Amino acid sequence: MSRKYEDRIQELLNKMTLQEKVGQLRQCGPSLVGAFEVSFEELLDMMFDGRITQEEFARLMGTAKQDFREDDLRDGRIGSYNGIGDAATANRLQKIAVTETRLGIPLLFGYDVIHGFRTVTPIPLAESCAWEPELWERTGRMAAEEATAAGVHMTFAPMVDVSKDARWGRISEGAGEDTLLAGLYGAAKVRGFQGDDLSAADSMAACVKHFAAYGAAEAGRDYNRVDMSMQRLWEEYLPPYKACIEAGARAIMPAFNDINGVPCSVNEWLLKEVLREKWGFDGMTVSDANAIAECVNHGVARDRAEAAALALEAGMDMDMTSEVYIENLEKLVTEGQVKEESLDRAVADILRIKFELGLFDHPYRTDEERQSRAMLKPKYRSLAREAAVKSMVLLKNDAASGEMLLPLDKSKKIAVFGELASSKSEMTGAWAIGAEGNDCVSLTEALEAEGILFTYTEGICNGKVDRGAIEENAANADVLLIAMGEHKEESGEAASRADISIPEVQMKLLEALAAFSKPVVVLLFNGRPLTLSRVHEKATAVLEAWHPGVEAGNALVDILYGKENPSGKLTATFPFASGQCPMYYAHMNTGRPGGKSKFTSKYLDTPLEPVYPFGYGLSYTSYEYRDLKIEKKEKAFLVSVYVKNVGSRAGEEIVQCYVQDKAAKRVRPVKLLKAFDKVRLEAGEEKQVCFTVPFEELGYYDWNMKYVVEDGEFVFYVGKNSSDCLNASVILERSERR
Ligand code: GLC
Repeated sequence: MSRKYEDRIQELLNKMTLQEKVGQLRQCGPSLVGAFEVSFEELLDMMFDGRITQEEFARLMGTAKQDFREDDLRDGRIGSYNGIGDAATANRLQKIAVTETRLGIPLLFGYDVIHGFRTVTPIPLAESCAWEPELWERTGRMAAEEATAAGVHMTFAPMVDVSKDARWGRISEGAGEDTLLAGLYGAAKVRGFQGDDLSAADSMAACVKHFAAYGAAEAGRDYNRVDMSMQRLWEEYLPPYKACIEAGARAIMPAFNDINGVPCSVNEWLLKEVLREKWGFDGMTVSDANAIAECVNHGVARDRAEAAALALEAGMDMDMTSEVYIENLEKLVTEGQVKEESLDRAVADILRIKFELGLFDHPYRTDEERQSRAMLKPKYRSLAREAAVKSMVLLKNDAASGEMLLPLDKSKKIAVFGELASSKSEMTGAWAIGAEGNDCVSLTEALEAEGILFTYTEGICNGKVDRGAIEENAANADVLLIAMGEHKEESGEAASRADISIPEVQMKLLEALAAFSKPVVVLLFNGRPLTLSRVHEKATAVLEAWHPGVEAGNALVDILYGKENPSGKLTATFPFASGQCPMYYAHMNTGRPGGKSKFTSKYLDTPLEPVYPFGYGLSYTSYEYRDLKIEKKEKAFLVSVYVKNVGSRAGEEIVQCYVQDKAAKRVRPVKLLKAFDKVRLEAGEEKQVCFTVPFEELGYYDWNMKYVVEDGEFVFYVGKNSSDCLNASVILERSERR
């Protein structure tokens, strides 16, 4: 822990009253007070339990004014706000805190800057398909430059919840199913958000979330229980949070879920033993929205007061919007039910991040003039376009003639179908709260701008396929493009789906178009893996575009017309059927690995293999791998392979290196990603790609939770995706282990 501010923190603590200490732990959301004079939260409840309709809710929201509780602020009873994305409001409130409270302690402004602030980049699941930490850091830096101009000090990101279940809507917010990728993604974002100097006006603190293992919610149902062995928790789910802490993240958000029965918000083992003692974290913890109060629902606290006491003693510093701290902590401390030193520790964590952000010396880090100049700069748009191109994954590209259908020739007459092709706002995806849909370029706008001759038909009217509208346009075109997938509300928080297939009405549109026996290009806009076997069968080409952000249309045109060669590769498995979830590449072999004979691990009604495996993605060129070699040096395996571009145009290939421990004291995954490299190859060019895999990284936790690296046989798989690899086996001798 850096001792740089400890004296100033202690000096302040000595001056603070109990009320002022508790006030620092309170984070308020801008409570929207509707015409009923009720809080935004109560208005939501009224809508959810049917006391008001959605239309009434929207109308009331329209009449709502934002209640920032200024009187509480003046009394030193607020330490932070969530969700204020404009410099004027932030500065107005900061001025009250700095000039009208007794001690002038500045406010901390948090915001969900998940994938861009105003220049919205592809959703994280999409961007993770670029397999490019340097890109992830650059887009993180861009987000920080825009968000801090709007008064943001801390972002509730990166989200690094490993998720192996596509039913979970929040798989869209992270880097998919793999532990290594999630850690690299999160660490790159932390570097991008925080920059080299956290006190710089364009740096914002990273708040890593959701700690921990939220992505393992049972049955993919949001907020559901998480129950797993300690071995699995440590091997598969905790490492990405640790990687972010090691990258310097200054805040962390415990998750809504329990772990083995103890909600993260009150989980002392997680928040003290792991986070503070094992990992040496000295930043601040902030709850998820209302999460402390919800420990009553979980059934671990009798009432709100007990929830407050449990959370503070467990190591939760700040209460996001539940109000249980401000309601109860003064009394709990006065009555000795909570130790004042626990309160002081939480206050110190919050003061520390405020010092590190430079807020005591520069409480006004931005102003309206800077904000007005900061958004949607051309260089930001071009970065968003680059990120969108690199996030897109070519899943199929055939043609009857055996040639590739894509890229298209501009002389081809195309007909475009589906509302997602012309939608702007849907392109932002989930958690783009600082965005304006109008900022997005739709596919149809980009085609027009490119001078492409095309017709456009939504093709679905009142929930039915509009065959009349289709006939003429499809009949007169050479190639048919159909936009399919999900609306942005169908992924993200509270958006679990038990059935992850494409809506039947969209399938009927696809089938209607396929009946014209012309090449059909399916463009997918979605926030999670979907079950696409029927789409794959009907389509000539399939391009996964995800929710690609403000430059959606331009990035699509760049790929469709060959200006860019797609290089993205999936970071989450696309199952054949929803019933296979959770389905992931790093699975165990079992004693009867799925195969032809009946008594093996498989389903009667579904193929063994996914439609698209982890790491899969095509290119407009092709690559051949040869000469996989494994050597040993300096406590590590040196893995090398030759990769040749055997096609007619340059491209970037993501070379993946997996390993399998053939015999261990606990079963090990059939493959585990240990390294990857993205290499650019000109047509005809060949390169040797090398990886170093330290013996130490081949370990696992044994039955007694001891981390062991054992001798024995390891098989390395190196290739273009988790199913298509060269392999070579090697023996690690007992004498060679660590
Ligand atoms: C939400 C989300 C969390 C977000 C927080 C603040 O409920 O779970 O990811 O950062 O509230 O908006």
